[in-house]
Amino acid sequence: MTEIALQTVNLVRRVQGVISHTLVDGIDLSVQKGEFLAITGPSGSGKSSLLYLLGLLDAPTEGEVIICGQATSKLSETERAAVRLTKCGFVFQFHFLLPEFTALENVLLPMRAHGRMSTREMNERAMGLLTSLGLGEQTGKRPNQLSGGQRQRVALARALANRPEIIVADEPTGNLDTASTEQVFGILRDIADSGQTVVVVTHDAALAARADRRIHIVDGKIHETTFGGDRKGEIAVAPTAECQS
Ligand SMILES: Nc1ncnc2c1ncn2[C@@H]1O[C@H](COP(=O)(O)OP(=O)(O)OP(=O)(O)O)[C@@H](O)[C@H]1O
Ligand SMILES: [Mg+2]
Repeated sequence: MTEIALQTVNLVRRVQGVISHTLVDGIDLSVQKGEFLAITGPSGSGKSSLLYLLGLLDAPTEGEVIICGQATSKLSETERAAVRLTKCGFVFQFHFLLPEFTALENVLLPMRAHGRMSTREMNERAMGLLTSLGLGEQTGKRPNQLSGGQRQRVALARALANRPEIIVADEPTGNLDTASTEQVFGILRDIADSGQTVVVVTHDAALAARADRRIHIVDGKIHETTFGGDRKGEIAVAPTAECQS
């Protein structure tokens, strides 16, 4: 049986100014656990606005975001922040690592904020994540001592720190060279194959083609949905992890 990790019901985000502007206009979406979903669309079509709603960084004007069965629209800002900290991991086009902290310290931050692990456990997890992303030698470096691809992998490690159900990424390879793009996208693919849910906004059609599903957004609405990832002969692995409550 498939498990739904993320669902939206008639999701609307409107901003009121001199004229009201609808950024997200009635999106209904169900994303399965372990699915790799790509969001594409022209500039200004509402991709980032939708992603911020999916990751609880922003609250909808109407509609609902349901994360692992939990409706979130009526949560207080504190409750929303708690769900966000544990269920959602973010990666942005610009890494947003704290410049005065080392790679290791940046990855420790979300675990410290959550406060559920001992110092030793947090250090072990951060080291394990960074090592698995090929950064075992870079853990003591600050962001300005790392390459763009390395920084983005630290940002990925930070996003994964609290074992979120859902990883949302807004053009995570937008600033990277081809080799680093390939590496970061490969990591996102592996994350989905290990049972976490990945939602990525990208302008890169070749990368989007490798997702399990693509939704194309125009004027805040789903204009087209296409299924099936270009796995280049890979054998799909059934996700095994379950939503944690
Ligand atoms: N806070 C805001 N107030 C008013 N308009 C906004 C606000 N945030 C975004 N917009 C507008 O909403 C529309 C959608 O913006 P959004 O950032 O979601 O687009 P996008 O698809 O991510 O574009 P890009 O590909 O350039 O990143 C744009 O027209 C943008 O100018
Ligand atoms: Mg955007």
